[in-house]
Amino acid sequence: MAASKKDRDAVARLRREIARHNERYFVHDDPEIADADFDALVRELRALEERHPELASPDSPTARVGGSAAAFAPVTHRVPMTSLDNAMDADELRAWGERVAKGLDGAAVAYVCEPKIDGLAVSLRYEDGVLVQAATRGDGRVGEDVTANVATIADVPKRLAATRSARGVPGVLEVRGEVYMSTAAFRRLREEKERSNAARVAEGRKPEPVPANPRNAGAGSLRQKDPAVTASRGLSMWAYQLGEVVGGPAFASHAETLEYLRGLGLPVNPRVASVGSLAEVEDYCRETEARRHELGYEIDGVVVKVDDLAQREVLGFTSRAPRWAVAYKFAPEERHTLLRDIMVSVGRTGRVTPFAVLEPVVVSGSTVSMATLHNREQVALKDVRPGDTVVVRKAGDVIPEVVGPVLAKRPARAKPWKFPATCPCDLRSALVQAEGEADTRCVEPECPYQRDQRIIHFASRGAMDVEGLGERTVFALSDAGLVADPGDLYALDRDALLGLTVTSDDGEERRYFGEVSAGNLLAGIAASRSRPLPKLLVGLGVKHLGPAAAESLARRFGSLDAIAVAGAEEIAEVDGVGEVIAASVTSWFADAGHRAIVEKLRRGGVDFAHVVRSEAPQVLAGRAVVVTGTLEGWSREEAEAAIKDRGGKSPGSVSAKTYAVVAGAEPGASKVTKAAELGIPVLDEAGFRALLSTGELPGS
Ligand code: IVH
Repeated sequence: MAASKKDRDAVARLRREIARHNERYFVHDDPEIADADFDALVRELRALEERHPELASPDSPTARVGGSAAAFAPVTHRVPMTSLDNAMDADELRAWGERVAKGLDGAAVAYVCEPKIDGLAVSLRYEDGVLVQAATRGDGRVGEDVTANVATIADVPKRLAATRSARGVPGVLEVRGEVYMSTAAFRRLREEKERSNAARVAEGRKPEPVPANPRNAGAGSLRQKDPAVTASRGLSMWAYQLGEVVGGPAFASHAETLEYLRGLGLPVNPRVASVGSLAEVEDYCRETEARRHELGYEIDGVVVKVDDLAQREVLGFTSRAPRWAVAYKFAPEERHTLLRDIMVSVGRTGRVTPFAVLEPVVVSGSTVSMATLHNREQVALKDVRPGDTVVVRKAGDVIPEVVGPVLAKRPARAKPWKFPATCPCDLRSALVQAEGEADTRCVEPECPYQRDQRIIHFASRGAMDVEGLGERTVFALSDAGLVADPGDLYALDRDALLGLTVTSDDGEERRYFGEVSAGNLLAGIAASRSRPLPKLLVGLGVKHLGPAAAESLARRFGSLDAIAVAGAEEIAEVDGVGEVIAASVTSWFADAGHRAIVEKLRRGGVDFAHVVRSEAPQVLAGRAVVVTGTLEGWSREEAEAAIKDRGGKSPGSVSAKTYAVVAGAEPGASKVTKAAELGIPVLDEAGFRALLSTGELPGS
């Protein structure tokens, strides 16, 4: 059956979403959604692609794993680091077992079971027994060179213990494994961060983010610029698989391989077990799940592998994972606790979000005392009531989530929670829920809660990054009437700050700032005056205007004033900006209140025209160059930036206006076909390099 428009749109939306989450996870180490939710998106996309094979594409995230590399030198894996397919429950595990049995014509199968370490996959390369390179997985094909950092990990031998192995060391031996942070090291790191943050706050500086879980902390520690920092974090590693091997002994089974690696001094998990049947695999999974907290490191499942290497050959790989292994995932961990109350918070756009106030409880290694309830429908759907005992889990061990009430423990007097009719701020304005929308909003422009959140957003790291201006300080300044919008920040002076008092819990009135913290805040505000224009644009909080579009607007118009007077059509023509953003930008600047803020910023000395201009010759001015597939020398973002730096555009699709298509490995088939149809030149990497330096098409 041909795919409907709805299916096509769904595929496009899922790919975009997955790509975004991949980037958050792999590039920024800062996932926004639970692993389980991410897996569900991938499954949904895969199901659609399977139903409509014409929608499948080699650059779909279902055919790749992970995100692109950023700051460290790229390393191409000679043997790709594939991912594993998941089995979400015992039924899926059995189904995998049946596929294996069928693939082997019913031959007897032995398995090796291993804890699935929730860390970061790495590949260690030993040449003649010496560690020469360590790389992260990256997108499975190209990872990042983290040799200096991995070399600081005590578990990782810098030289293999050839003497301990009677079988010698191969010329090349790549060992794959997982780098992780033990729960003890994680606790230490968190305590240190909390202590240093307390000191920062006391000095009026912004606290640094505290890692949410050992996986994020481990990933962050491995990607440090300074190996001394990695060394101080006490990372560990388990080895579990081979990559490229040249020379050395031949192996018949996985168990034998692991034994050999252990003999070379590599860390092989003592909990690895060889079993002879799928029933025993299930026993192993059950037992490991029950004991997961006794291990001292986090695991999120069990990896089950066919032991016999000849059988593995027969089974082979799908486009993304081996058929001979599967990741059996544990159910997310759940805890019971008391729901003390449900409250609402008001965001800078007026969105009102209910959240659960919980009796603090430790879930998957960290304390949870609050959890979002998303919106009105979610609360109604879950029917959680203040006074209920509720089930709490960390979705993907990251974001705390209230699953639902424990009805057996519901107190007789527990009443269904009612969404408030008015804003919790002093103005008590009526809240509205627009037809067909999930969100409820406070639409009062003067709402002090929204006002404070707008200032907090303006000062945040992604925007003007005002050092010394945290949430608490914004509330204090705003309550005292010193600031009502971001423009007021630039009129603050030392006397105003030193005169600011707050009433503490014991009713005592005391000064909020000391000489040092007042000086720090003023210095932070002064430094923010010269932030680049895209940061200023993001800080203004124009609806729909994200950092990428802000960057494009800044490049095209050069100053805030030029953007303020530009017409919607002109704005919509900018690469990466569409009609929706354009309309939102013009209506923002049409608002008299907003224009007043802009004038305050101007009077306050904020730079309106700080555009980092490219030094590169503008050899691609006005030309559209489409990039598809994986390039060796550039990540997708780098390639697009190189085009834009030279005055060009890099749209996502090929049209008659396209100047050239750059095709790396596994390019999008439709783009290449379309280019051929339209007679547009398709360049390889060498051609791309030439294009960047001269703007000329090779051979023309
Ligand atoms: S084997 C071709 N074994 O889980 C097989 N992976 O979901 C490659 N992982 O990318 C992987 N513990 O980062 C293997 N004992 C283990 C593992 C393990 C954790 C990770 C690894 C892999 C991911 C797949």
